Amino acid sequence: MFSPTLIERLKTARSVAVLTGAGVSAESGIPTFRGESGLWKKFRPEELANFNAFMANPELVWEWYNWRRKLISEVKPNPGHFALAQLEQLKPEFVLITQNVDNLHHLAGNEKVYELHGNIMRSRCVDCNKIITNLNPEITTKIPRCACGGLLRPDVVWFGEMLPAHVIELAFQAARESEVFLTVGTSAQVQPAASLPIEALRNGAYVVEINFEPTVISHVVDESILGKSGEVLPQLINMLKN
Ligand code: APR
Repeated sequence: MFSPTLIERLKTARSVAVLTGAGVSAESGIPTFRGESGLWKKFRPEELANFNAFMANPELVWEWYNWRRKLISEVKPNPGHFALAQLEQLKPEFVLITQNVDNLHHLAGNEKVYELHGNIMRSRCVDCNKIITNLNPEITTKIPRCACGGLLRPDVVWFGEMLPAHVIELAFQAARESEVFLTVGTSAQVQPAASLPIEALRNGAYVVEINFEPTVISHVVDESILGKSGEVLPQLINMLKN
């Protein structure tokens, strides 16, 4: 499954960067977005994942995010998450760049995590921008409000919104400086995250895709490994340790 080049490059690399998407949490029981039973097959992002829709109907949007928070609060990281936490221990310069808002990389033990799309367990005030992290998953009030009276929204990046500038800059820097770049469980269709593997490639990294099915970048990366990340990643870490 793994080429001698990958093992050699990963063994000798000091700086490793990993990009993850919804696929890495699929084996924990969290639906992906564009897969067979993906969220966007059932729900309309224009109704639920954008600012105007939220301001037009915050109750509906909170109902949906409450459902997702409850679902996420009931699942655990899977072997794929734990393998990436191990990789961070093995590599002096390691960065995990995630599109996921489910907090599972943190729960698995990763520390150097760049959350490109925010974190569903945090809320932010639309007026004073205050971040609230201790809101329990089960939000009782239909429309939660900040102490300043402003509406609280999930602290995630919605369609049409800019990503946090400092986080995306750090992510591109990590891609540029990486010797090995893994892209795991993402369809690589959403920008700017989808450009990170290309940025790494352009700067000489050995870029490897681990995904359940081929993606739009499978033909440009150095190696594309098809499989479930919860199975492939632990094997890769074992190879690395031997
Ligand atoms: N292991 C590895 N890959 C998997 C697994 C698995 N167990 N299960 C599914 N996949 C793959 C799918 O084949 C698909 O290519 O994960 C990918 C998930 O792609 P998307 O559903 O498009 O999710 P993602 O790439 O993370 O979406 C990016 O889009 O909707 C927005 O903000 C949202 O962060 C999200 C962004």
